[in-house]
Amino acid sequence: MNRKNNEARQRIERDWIHASEAASPASLHSRPVISVSNLSKVYASGFHALKNINLEVRRGEIFALLGPNGAGKTTLISIICGIVNPGAGTVLADGHDIVTEYRAARFKIGLVPQELTTDAFETVWDTVSFSRRLFGRRANPGHIEKVLKDLSLWEKKDSKLITLSGGMKRRVLIAKALSHEPEILFLDEPTAGVDVDLRREMWQLVRALRASGVTIVLTTHYIEEAEEMADRVGVISQGELILVEDKAELMHKLGRKRLILHLEGSLERIPGVLAVHALELAAGGNELVYTYDPQDERTGVTALLSDLHKAGIQFKDLRTKQSSLEEIFVSLLREERQ
Ligand SMILES: Nc1ncnc2c1ncn2[C@@H]1O[C@H](COP(=O)(O)OP(=O)(O)OP(=O)(O)O)[C@@H](O)[C@H]1O
Ligand SMILES: [Mg+2]
Repeated sequence: MNRKNNEARQRIERDWIHASEAASPASLHSRPVISVSNLSKVYASGFHALKNINLEVRRGEIFALLGPNGAGKTTLISIICGIVNPGAGTVLADGHDIVTEYRAARFKIGLVPQELTTDAFETVWDTVSFSRRLFGRRANPGHIEKVLKDLSLWEKKDSKLITLSGGMKRRVLIAKALSHEPEILFLDEPTAGVDVDLRREMWQLVRALRASGVTIVLTTHYIEEAEEMADRVGVISQGELILVEDKAELMHKLGRKRLILHLEGSLERIPGVLAVHALELAAGGNELVYTYDPQDERTGVTALLSDLHKAGIQFKDLRTKQSSLEEIFVSLLREERQ
């Protein structure tokens, strides 16, 4: 019985090791590390949670998946990590199909889940070491020690999880996800409900991991977080990936402001002399709305006000408005469908 078990274990270890060593170097570094093609998901309830997602994550980048509650972020991550069954479509993790080559694909991936679930009475050391064993990796106390030290958990290595603070427990989840030395780390809302200090700490940690060569995919509701962390951002809304863009480009779009001028009279159309400005008529001709990027060196506001004056258009009041995340999602979705 024992011998049988041993053989089985050795076989599993061989498979894992084979999977981890199978990749041949040079040619693989240019291909995407995660490749999602035409992925859809309908839950058993009939709910259509993902609609034809196509996404490639580049090796070594920090990719932020941004979207409101219920958008489908966790569903997408859970499918890539093999926790939720995919519907139609394919997902490759470092070239391995997550369904037909599940183990090889999963071996590449570390997942820090959204929900905190830990075995309260285990010690930090045991729970992290156990996670590594689950992947059939040979014991490597040196690696576990490094991970715990990197996460400032070394002093707590013999503490039971129940005695840790919320932030420490979250770090234990990260340590578990890193225990088997994955190349791709998924962080599902790593900073939801954590204080400002811990959030900054988390950002630093993510950057350090990236510097060590790990590709990071994180989800967030917070534009600021995507702005702070990501190289590229994907926006998901109601199960659709509505855009994927370099961070700088997206922030440019998201950062727009509107200047709303409440006119003395009303206009039927925008006079030709104002055609150079990005203006829209609103409120039945009673308002002129000017959209601009406040980060631009020249916002165009001064020129606009001067041209209005020249055109003899008077206004009673003016206000500016920053687009809310919700408005941005709605307008992106609208643009996408046009
Ligand atoms: N097991 C399930 N069965 C049925 N519907 C589900 C299931 N899991 C999730 N959903 C639904 O799928 C949609 C997407 O959920 P998901 O958890 O992926 O969203 P999310 O973007 O991660 O949201 P949040 O920001 O709140 O974490 C939601 O409408 C949710 O109710
Ligand atoms: Mg989620």
